[in-house]
Parts: sequence; structure tokens; C-alpha cells
Amino acid sequence: MPKKQWGGRFRKEQDRLALLYTESVSFDWRLYPYDIAGSVAYAQMLAHCGIVKKTESGKIISALLEIDKEIVEGRFTFELELEDIHTNIEAALVKKIGADVAGKLHTGRSRNDQVALDMRMYIRDQTFSIIALIDEFQKALVKLAEDNSEVIMPGFTHMQHAQPVLFAHHMLAYYEMLTRDRNRFADCYHTTNVMPLGSAALAGTSFSINRAMVAKELDFDSVSRNSMDAVADRDFLIVFLSACAILMTHISRLSEELIIWSSPEFRFIEIDDAFATGSSIMPQKKNPDVAELARGKAARVNGNLMILLGLMKGLPLTYNRDMQEDKPCVFDSADVVMNTLRVFAPMMTSLTVYGDRMEEMCRSGFLNATDLADYLVKKGMSFREAHGVVGKIVTHCLENILALEDLPLETLRNFSPLFDQDVSGALDLNNVVNSRRVVGGTARANVLREIRRAKRELGIQ
Ligand code: ARG
Repeated sequence: MPKKQWGGRFRKEQDRLALLYTESVSFDWRLYPYDIAGSVAYAQMLAHCGIVKKTESGKIISALLEIDKEIVEGRFTFELELEDIHTNIEAALVKKIGADVAGKLHTGRSRNDQVALDMRMYIRDQTFSIIALIDEFQKALVKLAEDNSEVIMPGFTHMQHAQPVLFAHHMLAYYEMLTRDRNRFADCYHTTNVMPLGSAALAGTSFSINRAMVAKELDFDSVSRNSMDAVADRDFLIVFLSACAILMTHISRLSEELIIWSSPEFRFIEIDDAFATGSSIMPQKKNPDVAELARGKAARVNGNLMILLGLMKGLPLTYNRDMQEDKPCVFDSADVVMNTLRVFAPMMTSLTVYGDRMEEMCRSGFLNATDLADYLVKKGMSFREAHGVVGKIVTHCLENILALEDLPLETLRNFSPLFDQDVSGALDLNNVVNSRRVVGGTARANVLREIRRAKRELGIQ
């Protein structure tokens, strides 16, 4: 006799290869805390509504809690033959209290609404943890910005020297990206926080269950409004995976910068020994592997989003077994995001910032050329004309291997009579930075204000 819960209508045992192909407990065992909490709330409600006896639900609940304890303590054996986490727990329940009582837990419920519930509870937990880890990472970025608030570095466009910026301004750019990431996970939490149980297989149930009671017990904001949508919907996972992909894309860009900046050609920063690795052949090597792997893992997390979009796009309503494939990619992205945030926070706070080197590099590449043009504009020239004049001055400097600030006033006057004594102030690196006082600009006063705002937002000081 087949021993599956659904074995009733079958005359043969499942083929071994088919069983191994279809099982999911090897990965969905991770859902056990949610599966058990969901079943406990459901059993309580069944008793409250008079669908099972109070004594029966009492037995079911204490056996479920025992199973939970056994899993936590590593005393529980998950069996592939039992297919998934839901059936593994149900089988254990039958073993403990007998089929007559255990069998009543599934009244009015299906694995389709059960797995939707479990995944929603899992995602709520993950978003909560990820938001806390984003906070820690943001604190690390703000600390790095604050500890190096004097440092001026070349800002780049097209990987070419563009204009000088504060290193702190650059770090706070990532703070902003992470704030948006945080908000995306908070939105994901709200999209997810809808209780699907009671949708049963797809059409709802004829038992007079109390869905609101289950929702309240499990801290859900609301119950789903359409049973077919509730069992077929994986939007909340797509939202989660896209929030993960965007976050990892941000961290990958930061990684790319850390890798470039720690090269000997740049020598802007040094990654602490504790977060670097060596080479098996070249004794002198110190490699930024954590950053490289974050850049690599970002590709995986982006891919996971594509997997789920591809998985869902062709599925007719409602549940299809294809949907079981949502789990590996969701678990993987959640793990990668959390591990990345965990290692990046301490890696960022332990960075050595070579401020002198950054400032030295600001001396080449005409980072103050825009300011020279702006100077002429302030003296009455149109910006387009000033752009042309300064372009010619730059060519002159390139031919003579000079910086703009090396040119004597008389030389500048050959290009435009508008140049005067005060031009040297306009070219000074500190003035160039500090003159950008527009909201969002890199002026030191602005950046210090942004650091204070960030600290307030993060609840520090
Ligand atoms: N293991 C399944 C999944 O992850 C659970 C739902 C199974 N439902 C079903 N009717 N086979 O999707």
C-alpha cells in the first residue's frame, strides 16, 4: 500500500526516480518554523469554530510543538519519500497522536494555501532581518564617511577625472541607494503580509472557518480576497527577488570601486588583511576577493529574479507544481544578500583610506576646469563661450605639461581679459569642493549636514 498522504487512489508505489525528481524536502525543510506556527494557529481556530474538539486541537498543538523541538535539536529525520516539509510534519504528527486526530488538521486546508502561507511567513522574516542588516551596513558607511570627512578625491565620469568630490560624499551616495533598498524591502513586507490560508486547493472551503482569527494569530495585516489568486500568486517573491537583485547590483558597483581603488595604480584605499586573501603562487599578493565575490554573487541573485519571472510567466491559474521551483532561487538570494551585508559592514569600517593619495590625484586631470569656466560666467561670459575658452587653456596646459593653477595671470589674460587676481581662489581644490553648496552638492557643509541627517535616520547619537 502506498504510504503517501495522497496514496489513496494509487495502486502502485511511486517510481524511485520520479520520487527523487519531485521531492522538495531536501530544500523546503527550512520552512518548518512557519509550517508549524501556521498549523498551530490553524488548529486553534478549528477548535474555536467547533470543527475539531478542543481536546483534539490540544493534542495536535502539543505534538506540533514537540516536532518543532525535535527539528531544532536535530533529532528529526526528514524523509525524501514523504515529499515535502508539509507532508513530513504531517506524517510525524500521525506517528505521535494517531491518524484519527492528526488527520483532522488538514480539514479545509490544502498544501497549496499552506505553502503560500509558509513562504509569506518566511519572506516576512527575511525582509525583517535584511532591513536590520542594511541598517548596520549604512552605519558602517556613515562612520567611514565621518572618519574621513576631510578627504577630497577625484570624482569620475567615463572613468576619467571629472570634478573633485569629498570621499564622504561618494560614500553617502551608497547610503542613499541603500535607503531605497531598505524601502523596497519594507514595501515587500507589506505586499507579503496577506494571509492566504482558507483558500484551500483553489476555490476556498465549505467549512465555516475563521480566517481573520488565523491572520490575527499569525500577525498578518489582512486576509487574501480571492482564493485563486492566493494560491497562484508569487508576486511577493518576485518583489523580494527584485529587491535583492537591486541591492546586490548596488553592492556590486561598490565592489567594483573597492577593487579598482585598491589596485597599485590607484592606491586610494587598502582593504584590511582580515577581509583579503593571498595567492597560492605569488607571495606578494593581497587580493580583494570578498568584493570580487560580491560582484560575482550579484550575477547569481540577478539570475534568480529571471528564474522566477520565467517560472511564472506561462502558468495558467492556479497552482502548478512548477511553482515548487520558486524555493531554491528565493532561499539562495536571501542567503546571499544577508551574508553579503554581514561581511561588508565590518569590511567597510576597517578600510584604510589614503586621503593624501586621493588629493594628490586631484592635482592631475584638470578637475577644476569647470570652475574656471564658471569663473568667466560669473564675470559675464556665456557658459558656452567660457567652455570654449577653458578648452583652449587646457590644450595649452597639456602642451606645456602644466596644471591650470600653474598658469600666471598674464597667460590667462591672453585667453580672456576677464581673468583677474581672484582667479587663483576659484581654482583652489577646497574652494572648488566647498562652492558646490546646492542641495545635494559636495560642499563640506552639506556633506556634514547629510552625515548628521543619516545618523539621525539610523538612530545614532
Ligand atoms: N512542495 C510543494 C511546493 O513547494 C507544496 C505544494 C504542493 N501542492 C500540490 N498540490 N502538489 O509547491
